Amino acid sequence: MSTSANEPRKRNFWADSSKWVIGIVAVALVTFGLTALLITIMERQTEARQPFTKVVELDETTVDPEIWGQNFPIQYESYLKTEEMGPTKWGGSHPVEQEATERDPRTTVSSSRLEEDPRLVTMWNGYPFAKGYSHARGHAYMLEDQRYTVRVLDFDQPGTCLNCHASTVDLMDELGDGDRDAGFAAMNLMPYSEVSQMVEHPVSCLDCHDPDTMALRITRPAFERGIAALKASEGIENYDVNKDATAQEMRSYTCAQCHVEYYFEGETKELVFPWAKGIDIDDIWEYYAEDGHVDWVHEDTGAEMLKAQHPEFDIWSNGIHAAAGVSCADCHMPYVRNGAQKVSDHHLQSPLFDANASCGTCHNESAEEMTDRVETIQDRYIHSRNQAFDALVDLIADIQAAQADGVDEARIAEAQEFQKKASFYLDYVYSENSNGFHAPAYIHRILGDSLDASRKGQKVLTGVPAADLAPSDTTLQYEEMISGENR
Ligand code: HEC
Ligand code: HEC
Ligand code: HEC
Ligand code: HEC
Ligand code: HEC
Repeated sequence: MSTSANEPRKRNFWADSSKWVIGIVAVALVTFGLTALLITIMERQTEARQPFTKVVELDETTVDPEIWGQNFPIQYESYLKTEEMGPTKWGGSHPVEQEATERDPRTTVSSSRLEEDPRLVTMWNGYPFAKGYSHARGHAYMLEDQRYTVRVLDFDQPGTCLNCHASTVDLMDELGDGDRDAGFAAMNLMPYSEVSQMVEHPVSCLDCHDPDTMALRITRPAFERGIAALKASEGIENYDVNKDATAQEMRSYTCAQCHVEYYFEGETKELVFPWAKGIDIDDIWEYYAEDGHVDWVHEDTGAEMLKAQHPEFDIWSNGIHAAAGVSCADCHMPYVRNGAQKVSDHHLQSPLFDANASCGTCHNESAEEMTDRVETIQDRYIHSRNQAFDALVDLIADIQAAQADGVDEARIAEAQEFQKKASFYLDYVYSENSNGFHAPAYIHRILGDSLDASRKGQKVLTGVPAADLAPSDTTLQYEEMISGENR
């Protein structure tokens, strides 16, 4: 192979001065490109540290999300979308039009769950929930839906209610003169009507973000105390959530400030999360038994009852996604692309409205397939829930009949205790808003416990002593094999 024929041509190429110019320009272009790339990379890194242009100063008194929106227009825009309504097969919300009145100026509300399932009225008879209970809807409505529910209009409620329905950081600081805990205590003791006039916005940026650094943070004393008690039950003392939690944990803990089972402590009306013995429903049941807390007395049977509400965090904690470290935000606030930026979708809603974004980061299946999986889990849950519901309603009727027949008090008392358990366990999963999805196996176990309690309550009424309803020897052998933690 001869190279000599090519050499003069090469030399000729570079001998031509215009080609030199092209060469230099090419090198310059490459250098420019590389520099531009380097600058972009450096910009991205700066962006990651300071992902916004500071238009306005934010501090602990900046309650209005619109002001934060000047620094973070994309997040603010999606935050505003929580006012959209729409149903999924079992979740989401159905808008219902109504006439505005002086008492209730809302023209659109979310559909009633009591009308959808009248067994709820039987379960809660004598408690405000039996008078009004609707499907939840987006964060934009949390303050107005609370102000105009019959549970507030027709009943005296404490300021405690507002902990989860308004931006309360600034108010607590103000009431406590800079001491947020003292402000929390003061707010709880005030009447609802008074506190309600001191707040203006639903949950806002300030409630989840540090205004200086934008880091996620916990602002609610009830969660700080609840999670510390839970950690203590696991042998971790002096847990301080704002110092000790990981960034990934905060992506669930910020939601757990509100989406949890709770009660109001007797005289202080303090908001408390019942986790000192653990976060399994049996731990919570035992906690209430020891504490002696009673929510209401059942109107039909006279049983002392417990009401459960929205234990999303509690049930998620017992599921496979929590075990795998998947947070609430992973599914409910997926990253969405905005040009070159990836931002967290602040339009909190059912993940089924965009299963690609919500599940697709981890699961390869199509949105249809993922939706199908969710609905299959939910359909099976509704099936089992129906059985537990019918059984509870039967038990309530049987207790009433036994009381009319003059059955002795001791037996009635045993049946009432079973009613309380069947009701709390069923309510716990009914009030959880994923319709069985957040921890399917755990939820079925709880429904089994509810059904079991209803059956035993009915047996007791027929004259079988409660002692004879103890688990069989075989059951006890199996129970021994089940570790306390995995139950
Ligand atoms: C693995 C994904 C995933 C995780 C993690 C997750 N959820 Fe969900 N969540 C769902 C799905 C799916 C539904 C059912 C939506 C439906 O039925 O339309 C749901 C339903 C809900 C609902 C009712 C929404 C509606 O429109 O009916 C709330 C509230 C909720 N989740 C809160 C939470 C909270 C709080 C956490 C964390 C403690 C959490 N979720 C963790 C997937 C998830
Ligand atoms: C620990 C936080 C927390 C407290 C305290 C709290 N709520 Fe809520 N509330 C929620 C969450 C989360 C939802 C949405 C999920 C749901 O509806 O189950 C909700 C939903 C509601 C709704 C709309 C759905 C419905 O039930 O009709 C009303 C009304 C309401 N709450 C009223 C109240 C009243 C009244 C109080 C005080 C007695 C109160 N809330 C206290 C967290 C809380
Ligand atoms: C300050 C309390 C509070 C915090 C914090 C909070 N929520 Fe909520 N959330 C509520 C209340 C109250 C409602 C019901 C509003 C209504 O029905 O008017 C609600 C409604 C929802 C809904 C719509 C439910 C439906 O059926 O349409 C979803 C989804 C949801 N929250 C998820 C989350 C997630 C995920 C987080 C954490 C990133 C979170 N929330 C943080 C109080 C809170
Ligand atoms: C219920 C809690 C909650 C509220 C309210 C909330 N955020 Fe966030 N925000 C989050 C979570 C969770 C993330 C994800 C952060 C992470 O993983 O580091 C986030 C992330 C962000 C980020 C970081 C960039 C990104 O998109 O991931 C910005 C900026 C932000 N939020 C702005 C806002 C603004 C502005 C508001 C009010 C309009 C707001 N947030 C309200 C929970 C909240
Ligand atoms: C951040 C990652 C992540 C996201 C987002 C996520 N998942 Fe998962 N999912 C997992 C992991 C990890 C497992 C456990 C797999 C295992 O260990 O076998 C799992 C398991 C499951 C299972 C099987 C549950 C069981 O009991 O075996 C279902 C169903 C599921 N996911 C549905 C969903 C749906 C629906 C969404 C969106 C709403 C979603 N996942 C979002 C990571 C994720």
